[in-house]
Amino acid sequence: MRNKVIAGNWKMNKDVFETADLINGLKKSVAAKNVEVIVCPPFTSLVVAQQLLKGSTIKLGAQDVSVHDDGAYTGEVSVTMLKSVGCEYVIVGHSERRQYFHESNELINQKAKKVLAASMRVIICVGETLEEREKEITDKVITAQIKGVLAGLSESDLERVIIAYEPVWAIGTGKNATPRQAEDVHQLIRKLVGQIYSWNVAEKIIIQYGGSVKPENAKELLSQDDIDGALVGGACLKPDSFAGIISPI
Ligand code: PGA
Repeated sequence: MRNKVIAGNWKMNKDVFETADLINGLKKSVAAKNVEVIVCPPFTSLVVAQQLLKGSTIKLGAQDVSVHDDGAYTGEVSVTMLKSVGCEYVIVGHSERRQYFHESNELINQKAKKVLAASMRVIICVGETLEEREKEITDKVITAQIKGVLAGLSESDLERVIIAYEPVWAIGTGKNATPRQAEDVHQLIRKLVGQIYSWNVAEKIIIQYGGSVKPENAKELLSQDDIDGALVGGACLKPDSFAGIISPI
């Protein structure tokens, strides 16, 4: 039995003052029992979030990380830096990073390896575009992404990997995948993990769905056999809507 994992990806939202308001609101409204709840604020908000989350069951994550350890890489943030501010999770390969910052499966794989080498947990995102879905090449695209991002990871690494299936056409559009459409891809991902590793690993891995998840559609999506959680964007920016996704679980 896999516990549900719900992560909030704040994207480029909330300054430190707004961060304090949102974290304080979440601490009041989010009651996580058998659910792992993670918040991923922007880098500038991580310290204040860490301080406010002391004593809470809500975990802290970052939205990205550098592939480099340290040195002359202006603008980059290393895993060690993230760890030092209390991050336990890092999201890598979000479609916005793939699309706007041209991140490849290879780079995402290197980032995932950095996170795992630092004994942290990684949420690796995959997902097809609308064009790819319309061309009926979703399975092919997802297969290539999964093989690429997991390349060289060991069976024990996989214990700290979460895969987030986020169809690009459903992100921030208000158009979520139907539970059936999402479940089909989740089954494919689990099958691929089983083929690359073992059925034992595949049965344990957490596969989140992301793309316009909100309180109104979360319950049905999360009741699918292979949907083990959600990566939430827009709806995680208000305590009520984030709690509305978590509370019914
Ligand atoms: P959304 O974003 O919930 O606003 O669609 C999800 C994501 O990008 O992780």
